[in-house]
Amino acid sequence: MLRDSFGRVATDLRVSLTDKCNLRCTYCMPPEGLDWLPTAQVLTADEIVRLVRIGVEMLGITEVRYTGGEPLVRRELVEIVQRTAALRPRPQISLTTNGIGLARLAEPLRAAGLDRVNVSLDTLDREHFKRLTHRDRFDDVIAGLRAAHEAGLRPIKVNTVLMRGINEDEAVSLLRFCLEQGYELRFIEQMPLDAQHGWSRAAMVTADEILAKLSAAFDLTPDQEERGSAPAERFLVDGGPARVGVIGSVTRPFCGSCDRVRLTADGQVRNCLFAREESDLRGPMRAGASDEELAERWRAAVRGKRAGHGIDDPSFLQPSRPMSAIGG
Ligand code: 5AD
Ligand code: SF4
Repeated sequence: MLRDSFGRVATDLRVSLTDKCNLRCTYCMPPEGLDWLPTAQVLTADEIVRLVRIGVEMLGITEVRYTGGEPLVRRELVEIVQRTAALRPRPQISLTTNGIGLARLAEPLRAAGLDRVNVSLDTLDREHFKRLTHRDRFDDVIAGLRAAHEAGLRPIKVNTVLMRGINEDEAVSLLRFCLEQGYELRFIEQMPLDAQHGWSRAAMVTADEILAKLSAAFDLTPDQEERGSAPAERFLVDGGPARVGVIGSVTRPFCGSCDRVRLTADGQVRNCLFAREESDLRGPMRAGASDEELAERWRAAVRGKRAGHGIDDPSFLQPSRPMSAIGG
């Protein structure tokens, strides 16, 4: 098992398949993009599947989430999902995506064994979308969501980051849209993970503010269901069964019940989004390390996990990698 010194056990593996993306969300990347990882450093599909297999067979991983950058731009994605679904015990397999390309890939991915998707969508306004992502791809995202729904992927979760003065007035309309379409919306507090280091606490729309905005239009009651390690606080909307989630990563941290561990596209284990250290698995793997040797490195990497992200500490330092190179 992957147990840390505080007794938390990591069972949820997030694997970044690429640091590349076809959008430039302002809270993530500068408009000109970033220096992408050199291809030789990015894990091959075989290497990814080997590490995921070690996680599942030897380390107690029960859930595998593929992320990016944008995971749909990775050509072998369907194959990777299919090979993941063949592992035993079969893990739950999910995808965090911006939705572009999902119109074409939702059905093949479901057939390959994908269980669930989270699609990022911050606005319902095409002009806002262009301003926020520097790309005119709003229709592709909506088509991707629809295709995921038609392919039977359930639940379909939508992730929204509200930003002051940009899309903060869209909380109610986004929830209304998701209720109509049968998607589960979750608002995520903006975290200091952008490559440009432009995050400021004052510009962040807090969980309290989001709930106040929603409460003006909907009756929200806390969901009594066990929250477990889930980061979202969930609320029944107008008595349910529809729900909305709020992920207060900064103001309501859930580090105490975290069950995640991350693998970057270049084969580094990160025990936290905000970790300052990484543990290299790619080097040893390419030098011929055995499964057991890789598993032991991985265990050691998780053992050293800190109690919390400390965003509120004066000594907090943003991780040197941006979100797109870590995986969401
Ligand atoms: N703060 C909060 N959420 C972010 N995401 C990307 N960058 C940030 C950030 N700085 C979101 C994306 C996606 C998920 C992976 O995380 O919108 O939904
Ligand atoms: Fe791409 Fe996701 Fe970053 Fe937006 S947040 S630029 S969709 S990786």
